[in-house]
Amino acid sequence: MKSQWKEEFAARFRRHESELQWLYCELYHNDRGAYDYFTDMLYRMWEARPEKLKAMDAARESCPDWYRGHEMVGMQLYVKEFAGTLKGVRKKLDYITECGVNCVHLMPLLKSPEGRSDGGYAVSDFREVQPELGTMGDLEKLAADCRERGISLCLDFVMNHTSDEHEWALKARAGEKEYQDRYFFFDDWTMPNAFEQTVPQVFPTTAPGNFTWCEEAHKAVMTTFHSYQWDLNYGNPTVFNDMTENLLFLSNKGIDILRLDATPYLWKALGTTCRNLPQVHSLVRMLRIVCGIVCPGTLLLGEIVMAPNEVAPYFGSAERPECHLLYNVTTMATLWHTVATRDTRLMAHQLRQLFALPKACTFLNYLRCHDDIGWGLDYGFLEGLGQKQEPHKKFLNEYLTGKWGDSPARGELYNDDPRLGDARLCGTTASLCGIEAAREAGDSLMMEEAVSLDRTLHAFLFTLSGIPMIYSGDEVAAENDRGYRKDPLKREDSRYLHRGKMDWDKAEKRKKKGTPEEAIFSAIRRMETLRGQLPVFDADADVWVLETGNDHILGIGRYCRKLQLLALFNFGAEDATAWLKDEKEYTDLMTDETDDAGAVKVKAGGFRWLLHRFE
Ligand code: GLC
Repeated sequence: MKSQWKEEFAARFRRHESELQWLYCELYHNDRGAYDYFTDMLYRMWEARPEKLKAMDAARESCPDWYRGHEMVGMQLYVKEFAGTLKGVRKKLDYITECGVNCVHLMPLLKSPEGRSDGGYAVSDFREVQPELGTMGDLEKLAADCRERGISLCLDFVMNHTSDEHEWALKARAGEKEYQDRYFFFDDWTMPNAFEQTVPQVFPTTAPGNFTWCEEAHKAVMTTFHSYQWDLNYGNPTVFNDMTENLLFLSNKGIDILRLDATPYLWKALGTTCRNLPQVHSLVRMLRIVCGIVCPGTLLLGEIVMAPNEVAPYFGSAERPECHLLYNVTTMATLWHTVATRDTRLMAHQLRQLFALPKACTFLNYLRCHDDIGWGLDYGFLEGLGQKQEPHKKFLNEYLTGKWGDSPARGELYNDDPRLGDARLCGTTASLCGIEAAREAGDSLMMEEAVSLDRTLHAFLFTLSGIPMIYSGDEVAAENDRGYRKDPLKREDSRYLHRGKMDWDKAEKRKKKGTPEEAIFSAIRRMETLRGQLPVFDADADVWVLETGNDHILGIGRYCRKLQLLALFNFGAEDATAWLKDEKEYTDLMTDETDDAGAVKVKAGGFRWLLHRFE
């Protein structure tokens, strides 16, 4: 605590001081000099924070659940593919608003070397925007416009690694030890080989191994992701200090949500998998405290793409929270499993665990994102159903790439290494639901089924508590973009299949009745509106899995403030009945028809949203 600190900052600092100091000093071996620098930096960044943002901090502090409710709808987009530049995105804010979206995740847009950027996830300057997209000033202006419209902005904070062209990497390459110490450098392959014994690979075919030889430094450097993404060493307090400053710099530009990219990888130790180590939780907890002190209006979104039981720990505990938001990756993967198998038992099992978490745990729900779909399912449970991991993954991949029976899905494999049998999957929601295949076949019945499935998946997304996040284009049934195969900089990475350019002519069709674009867009709009209006969708609602008496039909119940919702999703190929034996009167929110809920018919691939109002 410094006596010259202003009271607003000092009061917040005092609240967290002992825990922060304890965590920092434990991790950094009582390095008091580093800690002093760190706390001074926090104050400096708070002082530099614009008054408007400080006012917003105060407002959000007095309403700390501002992002939880049921009003937020997110959209994720690449600036370049969506509107060319940041200025272009500002011009498209009317469209974003028309989509009912009030939270936009701008995919990585900081400076990053062309062709060696991993979709922007190899940052060479955390303080500069990629010139072709605009300037930091443009980003600030966009953030201000968004704030005026009540739209929150989310940006990636790629903190596990830098590009090999970042200033620190350049100095490290030139032999400066101080900068080599910010990464993991080794004189020869002895240590890297020792690490390789226990560290799995992220990109086994597109970027095998976890180390890269750096010719200039004549040393090996740790590169968990691509060879040009150098892992930062968070065992070095200077790295933590400077990266925290970079995080606060972005927050001070008006970013509301910072997505902590590749969170589980932040700490490395020999003899471990280098994922989810306890020190990662200390780092994330410290960042949460930092936000609480400097910019309490800012949220942390953890990107934890891990096995089902490894995700929720990143919420921390009620007393020691870590991330405000986490991706609901398990539910996302389980959903595509459910589409392929038409069997809802695993989903019901998984949702029971999800619904048992404290309501304060807020997930960001999504059907797909910019990354591949990895098969992180609960294999223990599946084995009980007689489904073994390897053949099951093979089945899922075959079904979703359209190679199984008459599957209409049109996905592509990702990082298919036949030795590991662990391929993942790419594709847009519409293409995975069969819209692309139906259009190509010119088959209207097939199209109807595909559109229905796509709508049902969105309905499922909007049924869950938390923040639904749509991938830009999915609202108008964007299909796969195979153009990446002709681009030498992209062709090795099939994730570009579902990162295509926004097709604005296609988006226009949202206004034309009878098109799949209109059918999906209008259904999504209706569901969003209902979700925003009805407190039954609130994050504080009670949520449970319904017994439907039919394994093809998934049922979710919600109750809040005298409203009860029964949501039913039929993943089967036939129309079917959910035996709910509930004689109360319900209104179908999509058709406005009323009936009891004794035996509810649900069309093949369709859904029902039934609402009962208690007196
Ligand atoms: C995250 C991103 C992914 C990227 C990786 C490395 O998983 O979502 O796109 O390749 O981090 O930064």
